[in-house]
Amino acid sequence: MKRTWILIGLLAVLVLAAATPRVSSNNQSSTNAPVYTSDGNLKFPTQYREWVYLTSGVDMSYSPNMSMDHSMFDNVFVNPEAYKAFLQTGTWPDKTMLVLEARMAASKGSINKKGHFQTGNIMGREVHLKDEARFPAKWAFFNADDGVTGKLLPREMDCYSCHEQHGAVDTTFVQFYPTLLEIAKKKNTLSAAYVKEEAGK
Ligand code: HEC
Repeated sequence: MKRTWILIGLLAVLVLAAATPRVSSNNQSSTNAPVYTSDGNLKFPTQYREWVYLTSGVDMSYSPNMSMDHSMFDNVFVNPEAYKAFLQTGTWPDKTMLVLEARMAASKGSINKKGHFQTGNIMGREVHLKDEARFPAKWAFFNADDGVTGKLLPREMDCYSCHEQHGAVDTTFVQFYPTLLEIAKKKNTLSAAYVKEEAGK
């Protein structure tokens, strides 16, 4: 009888141990998960500059006749957990966070004679976040210009429609992220709309 209780006790300990979530040694899984404010916005992931770098676009524009009086870079970063999952599957896992940072470009400075470099002047920050339980369309956009709080952007904004209609993988612009595009092709995860768009060229 006594032995049965000891066995049951041991089993309970084992079950509990198995059910306890493990935090990786560098604690990344907890620090890179989205944290929301009480009013439904997102705490901006200020550590995004330690994440995986995907691309820099220079003066990219959605319409042919848009002209700016300055040059600008946009740099895209993703949390490393999501990047690793993408390498395996060709698509984004739940809790993926992508940050787009816009920086003012300059051409005159130090020894530079030609071309553009990035400056310390950040002109904007935006977040694209996948949280399947929280958002009906799985993904949501946030504007985090102050670098502190990501303001949830409403579904009617064109962020959602453009990304859904033209993003190569799961509403993200993987066609411009050179290390990921090849993986998406191999894993067959390109969106039908993107494949059609490319075929029509
Ligand atoms: C007309 C199309 C279009 C619209 C509208 C648009 N985007 Fe994007 N977005 C892009 C393209 C193209 C890229 C790739 C940028 C690069 O390669 O540097 C991108 C990339 C991003 C990224 C990087 C992660 C990803 O999903 O690929 C974020 C974050 C982002 N956009 C946020 C926004 C927000 C916020 C809005 C609305 C205020 C918005 N976008 C509106 C075309 C669009």
